[in-house]
Amino acid sequence: MKLMKWNLMLGVLLSTALVALLVLLLSQLLTSWTAPAHLSPPSPRIFSKKFEWQARTPHPLVLRYPESYPFLLNHPEKCEGPRSAPFLLMLVMTQPQDVGVRQVIRQTWGNESLVSSVVICRLFVLGLPQPSFAQELRALLEEEDREHGDLLQVGFLDTYANLTLKVLMGLEWMAQYCPTAQYVLKVDSDVFLNPRYLVQQVLWPSGPPQLDFITGHIYRTSNPERRRGHKWYMPPELYSHDKYPDYCGGPGYVLSGSLALRILTVAQRVKAIHLEDVFVGLCLKELGVKPTPSPPGTFLMFRRNYDHCAFHRLVLVHGFQHQEVQQIWPDFLTSNGACPTV
Ligand SMILES: *[C@@H]1O[C@H](CO)[C@@H](O)[C@H](O)[C@H]1NC(C)=O
Ligand SMILES: *[C@@H]1O[C@H](CO)[C@@H](O)[C@H](O)[C@H]1NC(C)=O
Repeated sequence: MKLMKWNLMLGVLLSTALVALLVLLLSQLLTSWTAPAHLSPPSPRIFSKKFEWQARTPHPLVLRYPESYPFLLNHPEKCEGPRSAPFLLMLVMTQPQDVGVRQVIRQTWGNESLVSSVVICRLFVLGLPQPSFAQELRALLEEEDREHGDLLQVGFLDTYANLTLKVLMGLEWMAQYCPTAQYVLKVDSDVFLNPRYLVQQVLWPSGPPQLDFITGHIYRTSNPERRRGHKWYMPPELYSHDKYPDYCGGPGYVLSGSLALRILTVAQRVKAIHLEDVFVGLCLKELGVKPTPSPPGTFLMFRRNYDHCAFHRLVLVHGFQHQEVQQIWPDFLTSNGACPTV
């Protein structure tokens, strides 16, 4: 008799708990389903719900943005100083351990005084090294930064998939400390760059400022890579459309400062994806801005062997290791007087 009563009570308790759990689940589901996502501006609650969800079940390629990543090495004064606002802000993407690469870039295409007619400001953007290297690299990076004052280290793990964060944080730095830069160049470290041609033939410092301007090698209506394991693999659950909007290839593109600021604004609400150049394309689409074609053959996304005259008539060649850049640079600097004019 007593046992039966206990069993009954236990049963009642258990079923009450079950019902309560069901009600709780249902109400959770309902509030997320009925969230008025179409209303604009969306309330912060919906954003925070979206990020709560991402934090619970993150896709390995989902990026946490917006998020306040700290600047660990920073130079707030880098673009002020006695000179006027920079004509060109060069944001060079490097990895923490690339000490030698940065040294070559400073001495070659990243030299701020290479184009004497304009003010150029160069910053290397990097994230955090893998934890196992962090200790030994810290002192090295601090010393490098003391000597050159051009490292912008941001507090997230430096991986290929986080490159979008690097670019966005470079733009955040620009918005905060250098908002009047006339142009911004995003460039990778494995390239050959000809800043003179870029400044004089593409950006035209003596002409009127170009608004909503972005140029580079334009990829038009390309298809997302759906083969797993590919470097540019795009999971359908992150981007489901068949085509990408037009975008400028990641090794190097240049844009007006005002457009950089507008991209940063829409980037706060466009879902951040790991392919940084495509992501900028998505932001451009959101803004209704189309990339401007560059002179044909001036931004090469694939390697081409060095040729003195040809390299004087282009902006960028992707696929150059720093040792090679160092090797060809003295020849590149010699006069191009003997080159045919075209
Ligand atoms: C940068 O270029 C200027 C002008 O050509 C030159 O005097 C200077 O030595 C170069 N700096 C470096 C670090 O190579
Ligand atoms: C990006 O950086 C964050 C913060 O350091 C890290 O937790 C995450 O694993 C990185 N993401 C990828 C895909 O590498």
